[in-house]
Amino acid sequence: MHKVERLVINYKTLEEFKKFKEYGLQELSMLEDLQENIVENDSDSPFYGIYFGDKLVARMSLYKVEKHLDQYFEPQRDYLELWKLEVLPDYQRAGYGQSLVEFAKSFGLPIKTNPRVKSAEFWSRMNFEPVKYDMERDKGENPLIWYPSEKAE
Ligand code: COA
Repeated sequence: MHKVERLVINYKTLEEFKKFKEYGLQELSMLEDLQENIVENDSDSPFYGIYFGDKLVARMSLYKVEKHLDQYFEPQRDYLELWKLEVLPDYQRAGYGQSLVEFAKSFGLPIKTNPRVKSAEFWSRMNFEPVKYDMERDKGENPLIWYPSEKAE
């Protein structure tokens, strides 16, 4: 198991984020907040990661969705939204992705993610399954869900 850390949002972290493919609006808005001195060393970020030495090699964003905003579960419940899971190319297939997913599972809440194409095999190994919809919604999204084993709740 690799050590998962909550990432502090500062210029160094954002520099590390540039190595990841899924660098986008969320990172740019964090950069703006830093530049405008709104946040400094913000440790309340949704990002978690794994370092190899002082290099960030894997990361994910994880946040809790409150029950009343839930659109996936019946009945509605709190769950974790996992996104931007990514392992740098030279570090793939070495257990980093799995360590991050296991860390997310340790909170004991269901987890929802929208996987990128080509990662289906990884997600099925992590025991995530497609959402079963009655209704047609979220076109373009193919969410996967993991349920904690307590289903009796
Ligand atoms: N195809 C098939 N199986 C895969 C896989 C892949 N691309 N990636 C991981 N797995 C399997 C591993 O073999 C392992 O199973 P095992 O323990 O039974 O051997 C399990 O999933 C966990 O793998 P892990 O080493 O934790 O995966 P990772 O650290 O590489 O993280 C991703 C997985 C998908 C998050 C990571 O590879 C990534 O960010 N990839 C970039 C883009 C992408 O989606 N690539 C997919 C291949 S093109």
